[in-house]
Amino acid sequence: MSETQVITAAAAGTFTIGGDLTVNRLGYGAMRITGTGIWGPPADKAAALATLRRAVELGVNLIDTADSYGPAVSEELIAEALYPYPAGLVIATKGGWERVGPGQWTHNASPKHLAQALEGSLKRLRLDRIDIYQLHIPDPAVSFEASVGALAQLREQGKIRHVALSNVTREHIERARKIVPIVSVQNRYSFADRESDFIVDYCEQNSIAFMPWAPLGQAKEAHDAIQKAARNLKSTPLQVALAWLLKRSKGILPIPGTSSVAHLEENIAAAGLELPEAAFEELSSVNIPPASLRG
Ligand SMILES: NC(=O)c1ccc[n+]([C@@H]2O[C@H](COP(=O)([O-])OP(=O)(O)OC[C@H]3O[C@@H](n4cnc5c(N)ncnc54)[C@H](OP(=O)(O)O)[C@@H]3O)[C@@H](O)[C@H]2O)c1
Repeated sequence: MSETQVITAAAAGTFTIGGDLTVNRLGYGAMRITGTGIWGPPADKAAALATLRRAVELGVNLIDTADSYGPAVSEELIAEALYPYPAGLVIATKGGWERVGPGQWTHNASPKHLAQALEGSLKRLRLDRIDIYQLHIPDPAVSFEASVGALAQLREQGKIRHVALSNVTREHIERARKIVPIVSVQNRYSFADRESDFIVDYCEQNSIAFMPWAPLGQAKEAHDAIQKAARNLKSTPLQVALAWLLKRSKGILPIPGTSSVAHLEENIAAAGLELPEAAFEELSSVNIPPASLRG
């Protein structure tokens, strides 16, 4: 490979979501293009727009967002940067978890709210139909079946192409699938955080895409084993973390988040990093305590 050849997201291979949306397996998470605490506009709007445009130039055709990122800011910036959208670009948004202040979340997955949230996303994203609409998180005060049933109804009305879930257990996925086909699941998962391991396997067995959120461990974790593999492979620890995810399951579609073009380019280059089997096995055998048990 020549030094100047640019690696694009296509090097990660493809996955077909819901039987009809074929995307490159390395996507982009658009939560980081908002202000601090995922609140308000970004400090550098030009950089946020440039990051989105560069993502698409580098072959990203799966962008994850939510109505609550900003709120509204992330979806508005996506439309400003990319509308009219290139053919094949899949935007996966979410509803049901509101942002009420910097760093503050509030559940709201009532059928009425979900219908309103979807209308807002359609308007901001300038779309007639959302390709992938994810229930952001089950609402403990609302029947899970009622939330999923509302999304199924909106799908029947043609406003949603595919229904998806986030922050769920296997039981949630099974209950939802009795109501409507579920095409993807988005849970926290990374090299350093494997509590959803068995959900990754369940998704693979059922042809459901798994989009790990915080695939870089939110850039906090750098285990010795990752550092060592990165040195051996002449790459960076975050690239190894992404390459490990891509090898962990063919159904994994990482959506690393960044507000910087330089970081985006580093992350996308991981699509071309093939982890040798021995390195993958060594990394997989590292037994990291669940995030919930760490101080
Ligand atoms: N479903 C949910 O509940 C949920 C929750 C959280 C996130 N998400 C989605 O998942 C996506 C990814 O999660 P995330 O953004 O929280 O975590 P992440 O992708 O693991 O890490 C993002 C953090 O790492 C930094 N970073 C990214 N690339 C880097 C690089 N090459 N070098 C150094 N630092 C780098 C970013 O800062 P810079 O901006 O400085 O690069 C940011 O602080 C989000 O964008 C969002 O779309 C979903």
